[in-house]
Amino acid sequence: MTRPTTPAHDERAAPARVDPAVARAVLHGLGASPKRLPPWLLYDAEGSRLYERITELAEYYPTRSEQAIFERHARAIVAHALAGTAGPALVVELGAGTAKKTVVLLEALDALAPGSTYVPVDVSASALVEAAARVDACAAGVLVEPLVATHERALDALAGRPGPKVALFIGSSIGNYPDDEAAALLARIATCLGPGGALVLGTDLKKSPAVLVPAYDDGEGVTAAFNLNLLTRINRELGADFAVANFRHVALWNEAASQIEMHLESTLAQRVVVRALDRSFTFAAGERMHTESSIKYDCARVDRLLARAHFVRERTFEDERGWFALHVARAR
Ligand code: AVJ
Repeated sequence: MTRPTTPAHDERAAPARVDPAVARAVLHGLGASPKRLPPWLLYDAEGSRLYERITELAEYYPTRSEQAIFERHARAIVAHALAGTAGPALVVELGAGTAKKTVVLLEALDALAPGSTYVPVDVSASALVEAAARVDACAAGVLVEPLVATHERALDALAGRPGPKVALFIGSSIGNYPDDEAAALLARIATCLGPGGALVLGTDLKKSPAVLVPAYDDGEGVTAAFNLNLLTRINRELGADFAVANFRHVALWNEAASQIEMHLESTLAQRVVVRALDRSFTFAAGERMHTESSIKYDCARVDRLLARAHFVRERTFEDERGWFALHVARAR
């Protein structure tokens, strides 16, 4: 016998499974003044798909600029990272994704240190399946050991491994971290590598806001969709009722901090309910919520950061326009 129950798709109910990290981040960020949300929330399945599209936009130069450096200098980069070591190396990449950009470096690794191991680290298992297939096809002599983990857990797990180590942290992912957090993460990398280990670090460079702002506010609105998708994610995962149409994407250049910032601006006064938190939050008309900073570096800032983490920068490769930099640094 069946009894009347609540409908299966009760929109008033909070989702059954709530990721506590997401709940914590949203509670903390929407309760803060000014409001903010951490950039890692941008990367659910849809966010990752939109970011892939961003990397192909005419206005978004960082991915292409870094790729041009890899294509031109792959051997020099890898040779320098391996300097002074003989035999196979352990190469770990933090935030590897599908390793699309990395294969050029791994081909060079295959040639210079056959039998080396590549450990792509990511929180997305499906991305790593693709990464492993790609590396098998392009750099057959490199052993692939995918690792589904956060940066911290992966670094702890690899710290005890013998032999020379190289860490890849490319794509200017470091630029999303405030300097204190970036220095702490790099210090953990240095500890994992041990003295003599190499870090290959990609950083986007400071340039005209006339180039920077369109890269984060493109004509097709892909970056706007990427930023706004955060609200759709919170609606789905935390049973919130954000009216996405009542927010707009803002990208601005903060000269003092040398960073591009993405914000979501409330276009009217409104209240948003978040069921899973049992709370509501009010937004004033024009109120902005900070969702991401993307730091644009100069070499002095990179050096300060590396020094705080006990690295010494040994070589830097730039693209022809001087828009992006790839550094090889040594752990002391
Ligand atoms: C993935 C952090 C390198 O900061 O350029 C792209 C993310 N945000 N467009 C960046 C991003 C908006 C991107 N990183």
